Amino acid sequence: MAIKNQEAWGSRIGLVLAMAGNAVGLGNFLRFPAQAIQNGGGAFIIPYLVCFVLMGIPLLYVEWAMGRYGGKSGQHSAPFMFDALDKRFFWKYLGVLGIFTNLAIAAYYCYLESWTMSWAYHSVAGHFMGKTQAEVSAFFSSYIGLTTVEPVVFWILCVLLNTWVLSRGLKGGVELAAKIGMPLLLIFGVILAVRGVTLTAGEHGAVYNGVLGLSYLWEPDFSSIWDPVVWRNAAGQIFFTLSLGMGCVHCYASYVKSGDDIALNAMSAGWMNEFVEVVLGSAIIIPIAVGYLGVDKVIEMTKGGSGFGIGFVTLPFLFAQWGALLSALAGFMWFGLLFFAGITSSLAMGTPCMAFMEDNFNWDRRKAAWTVGAAVLLLGIPCVLSQEAFNEFDYWVGTVSLVVFALAEVILFAWIFGMEKGWKEITDGADITVPIVFKHIIKYVTPVFLLVVFFGSAPEMWAVLTKKITPYVAVARILLAGLFVGIARLVYIAHRKPGAL
Ligand code: PHE
Repeated sequence: MAIKNQEAWGSRIGLVLAMAGNAVGLGNFLRFPAQAIQNGGGAFIIPYLVCFVLMGIPLLYVEWAMGRYGGKSGQHSAPFMFDALDKRFFWKYLGVLGIFTNLAIAAYYCYLESWTMSWAYHSVAGHFMGKTQAEVSAFFSSYIGLTTVEPVVFWILCVLLNTWVLSRGLKGGVELAAKIGMPLLLIFGVILAVRGVTLTAGEHGAVYNGVLGLSYLWEPDFSSIWDPVVWRNAAGQIFFTLSLGMGCVHCYASYVKSGDDIALNAMSAGWMNEFVEVVLGSAIIIPIAVGYLGVDKVIEMTKGGSGFGIGFVTLPFLFAQWGALLSALAGFMWFGLLFFAGITSSLAMGTPCMAFMEDNFNWDRRKAAWTVGAAVLLLGIPCVLSQEAFNEFDYWVGTVSLVVFALAEVILFAWIFGMEKGWKEITDGADITVPIVFKHIIKYVTPVFLLVVFFGSAPEMWAVLTKKITPYVAVARILLAGLFVGIARLVYIAHRKPGAL
């Protein structure tokens, strides 16, 4: 017997901002520019935009529709949302991924988020002044190498802050954080973007014009259009940035009222994310870094990993050329912007698990929030201790699991639940006309696209699995497997004996 989960959004604007805050994250400001540069600049943008139209928009419609549909039967997390669409037992176990991924991403994401707090502090305190680029990089390496306890302190602080906001619920916690964080982030972002594109050679020691970076990114280049890796990376970025294939869009959408619009909401939040990503995300790091370092050096610096580190090693050094006051201000804005982008996303990662415990075991939200906080802390330990474990998490949950979940949900929605009913769900109460072409895209194009992406990366997955591993990677894998099995067990108990915990 599911107990009524009483949470609800306070207002429509609050919901759209919360959902945009969910999507707009470190992915927009750090991962996107690094990915764009690594994958050839103008050569990346075309696959990226195609993936947005053929996977991003369709999946946004599907996830919002599944969310609202689940919410009608009192379910706010993926396992029993899947169950509401089809009763065969395996769907709810596939839905486990919709809780699993969020917790596992939160484990390393909160650590990353804590770097932004620390860097904001060091910028304001002027600690980057007078350092060379190599010294800033060395500072970063010794930070993540845990030569002091500072990273651990900031990390625990960051998880506590997230947990506390989550324990205040949707309206008084998550929505409020988005209402404060999103406008501030946009203001900081616009100021820095204007600074980035107006940066001219000779000014504050810059060697090139900032716009040079923009033209590298925006001049279409068709040379790598047939490179499957570029396509896979573009698809991966679309998933990551729109928070798709994770179960957390479903969770936020499940708290709308049953007749409320979802089509316009989905598009508002989705396009807001794309604006922040392609306009602000490309107009800060790239022009400023290119202005000082030139295109070649920037390309070289983004090689390896998912590229989250670049904003921490380049910008503080570059800001330091602007004089004490301006550099403190710019550092505070940049890392403050990253912090707000980060926290409104990590809060979103906590909600599906909380909702699951509240719906199925009658937990109150405080107990749910502190349990999630404890889980994130525990799972985060290997990621803090080892970059390898961090990358292992990012690979399995930030890449593979998303595609599997998205494939499952689109098949369930379009083929099992049925596209006729599905289309009615998407358009019911809609404040805009959803172009009919998306009905066909959702049914045929998106699943085929996902299958191609999945099988295209199968050899790579196999290579990762069979490669020799270090103890930290083994621990990371054991934790991830344990987490999946643990959630699956809870789903089993919830199914057999609701309220039993
Ligand atoms: N979309 C977020 C970003 O761009 C990341 C995210 C992942 C948010 C999972 C919620 C859930 O950084």
